This record gives sequence, structure tokens and C-alpha cells, in this order.
Amino acid sequence: MNILILGSGGREHAIGWKIAQSKKVKNIYIAPGNAGTRNVGTNIPVDLDDFHRIKTIVIENEIDMVIVGPEAPLVDGIYDFFVADSVLKDIPVIGPSKDGAKLEGSKSFAKDFMAKNNIPTAAYQTFDSSNINEGHLFIDSLTSPYVLKADGLAAGKGVLIIDSAEDAKAELTSMISEHKFGDASKSVVIEEFLSGIELSVFVLTDGEDYVILPEAKDYKRIGQSDTGLNTGGMGSISPVAFANAEFMQKVEDQIIKPTVNGLSNDGIVYKGFIFFGLINVEGNPYVIEYNCRMGDPEAESVIPRIVTDLVDLFDATAKGNLKNTKIEFDNRTAAAIMLVSVGYPENYEKGKVIKGLDNVNNCILFHAGTAIDIENNSVKTSGGRVIAVTAMGENMSSALKKAYANVDLINFEGKYERRDIGFDLVQFDNK
Ligand code: AMP
Ligand code: GLY
Repeated sequence: MNILILGSGGREHAIGWKIAQSKKVKNIYIAPGNAGTRNVGTNIPVDLDDFHRIKTIVIENEIDMVIVGPEAPLVDGIYDFFVADSVLKDIPVIGPSKDGAKLEGSKSFAKDFMAKNNIPTAAYQTFDSSNINEGHLFIDSLTSPYVLKADGLAAGKGVLIIDSAEDAKAELTSMISEHKFGDASKSVVIEEFLSGIELSVFVLTDGEDYVILPEAKDYKRIGQSDTGLNTGGMGSISPVAFANAEFMQKVEDQIIKPTVNGLSNDGIVYKGFIFFGLINVEGNPYVIEYNCRMGDPEAESVIPRIVTDLVDLFDATAKGNLKNTKIEFDNRTAAAIMLVSVGYPENYEKGKVIKGLDNVNNCILFHAGTAIDIENNSVKTSGGRVIAVTAMGENMSSALKKAYANVDLINFEGKYERRDIGFDLVQFDNK
């Protein structure tokens, strides 16, 4: 098979790395890819909102399957574009239809879906320009802190957690009336604050059945001990020690099954990843958010733990065969540490030469914001998140030790990483 992966981050490199190990694969293309994805396939430049260009790439390279990495093309309807096109309609796209991608693309849709299907989540209401005053009253009915979420996609920035009711009311007005997050905050979901520890759970679903992938914990804040600004993710650990069999059974019964059944009952076509952003509140899982794709940097610890051929899993997803599919995991712990450019997630410089990439051992490098400089035969930084260093160990501390030893072998001007990935799991880890 010839497979096209859409995207350019560590997640797409991890997917490419894994499917390159499949006997079923002839050629892998990554559009647009990064310096690392060149090691697993051929990069093709593209803007991911240019579906017509993607169509040309699919035809020219005789692509048999398309795997969509990030959410934007899914929310924009790339699945439906393929289905509606007479040439592309039989080429499977791994990712939900536009309606399914609303689980991520519209927080109010996701919350209404959860309410309808009795899926545990924080109490909420949705407001827009027609009922801002009711929003103020709803804030008064909740206790601090207050959680305000822009309804639409806001590049991970649309969630505000605010201590004072007065500030929350002012923010609500700014989001709705002053378009603080553009169109994304025309509607705002206000919800109850849940207190607990978060984790990410993933399934691949064919719309009727599903396989559960290894779970992971993501470290979103820029600073040590979970302080400072939110980022795309500074590292991840899989498995998550507190997600024991009893907890995961609750996740499956109370969250995964009703989600997949709810989609199917509503006639929503969904053949792809569902990412459940969960919080463990005193032993009970609640959904904080859905995403319609794999997580990043969760993919960089989850995918190396999947033993089963990922192409077989994607094929079963496309064909509606997941009922008969088993998935096998590596029981070791995977730790992924993200090297970022200093200044990220705000302003940072690009174009710094990355040294030491050939010195690493006992780890896997998943490139994110990297670009090849062919003239100078070097790899340079081209983004905020630059490279994930993933290592496997018999337990979390051995995985982390190996990962950090390799982190220290890689250098570029302005390199920064969190040194405490996994810090909050130590208390649960009994491997
Ligand atoms: P989201 O974009 O929905 O994942 O929200 C970003 C982050 O805000 C989450 O990862 C949580 O850390 C936090 N958050 C969102 N909703 C809530 C909530 N209801 N209670 C507590 N924290 C929340
Ligand atoms: N790591 C969180 C995300 O992919 O959205």
C-alpha cells in the first residue's frame, strides 16, 4: 500500500515511524512533514487547507490510504471531501466526518452530546450575544474557579480558568462581544471546575466498534511542577499508573461505549481516533474534552507501545472490522520529553542548527518543528516544539533516565525542556 500522512509534527513522525515497520506498506508520503519524517518516507509540501492539492498528491502517488494527523482538516471536512469526489471516494481516510469532528470543533456540540448520552462531564451552559446576562447569573450560581471555553477551535488557547466572579463576567463579555478569540468565541461554554488528575485515553473506532490504545499523561504547562503558560504539550508518559483496571473499566463503560454508541445512533460517520481528555475525580472519570485525532505529544509515548501492526488497525477501521481485531501492547513504560525553543509558547527564534542527533542511543527521536537545510547539510529548528525524545523502560524511572540522558546529547541554541515529566505519577508507580 501507499500511504499518505497529513501533518508535520511529532505525532505524524510517530505514525510514520510505526507504519514504516508494516510489511503491508510500499511507500509512505508525509505532507508537509518535517526533517525527521524524511527518514520514514517522502515529504511533499502542502497547505493542509488546500484539499484540491491534496487530491492531486493522492492521484499522482497512487495513494491507497490517507491518515489525517491534526484536527483542522477534519473539522474542515476532508473526510466528506473524499467521499463526495468520484475519484477519491474509495480511498479510505482515517479520521471522522465533518459531523464527527465537531466533537473537537465545537465545545457546545461536545457538551450537548455528552449530556444526551449521560457521559460524565462538568455541569455547563452555553452563552452567546443573545444571553450574556444569563451567563453572568450562571457564573453567580457556580463556585470559584470559573471555567470559560470558546466554543470553536482556538489553537489550544480558548480555555480560561478564572478565580474571581467579576473577572469571569468581564471575560465572558470580552469573548462574546469583543471577539477575544475571533469567531471561535461567538459562543462560550461556562462550566463547573473539576478537581483531579488528568489523563488522555485513545480509541480507534470504525463507528460501531473500537480498540482502546494505551493511555498517556500529557504535561501541558511550560514550567516545572505544572506552572506557567499552557503549551501544546511538553512531554508524556504511557501507561498512566493510576489508570488501573477498575478505573479503565469505568472509562470504557461510562465514557467510551456511550460515545461510540451515541455517534452511531446519531448516524455520524466516524472512522478514526477519538481522544478522550479525562480527569480522575476521586476515582471516577469525567470528560474534560474530546479531540478527533491522536494527541501530541501523547502519540510519541503511545505509538511506540503498540505492538500490533498499525496498518492492520487502520485497515480494520476503514473496513468496519474492528470487532474482530485485537490489539497488543508493550508493557514497558514509554517517556517522551519535548525539546522546545526558548520563549515558546510565546515568541521564539527559528533556524537554529540542531547538533547531536546522531549521538543518541536507546531512544527514538520524533521530530516536530524541524527543517532540513540541504545546502548546509544540517537540521534546523523551525517551530516552538522541536523534537520529542522517547525512551522505553521497565518502569517510569528507567524510561525517564534513558530519555533525559539522550535529551542531554542534543543541543541547539535556546533549547529548553521540562526536567520533571512524570513527577506527579511517582506516587502511583509500583512497577
Ligand atoms: P481543554 O482545551 O478543554 O482541554 O481545556 C484545557 C485545560 O483546561 C484542560 O486540560 C484542563 O486542565 C483545564 N480544564 C478544562 N475544563 C476544566 C474543568 N471543567 N475543570 C477543571 N479544569 C478544566
Ligand atoms: N496533547 C494534547 C493535544 O494533543 O491536544
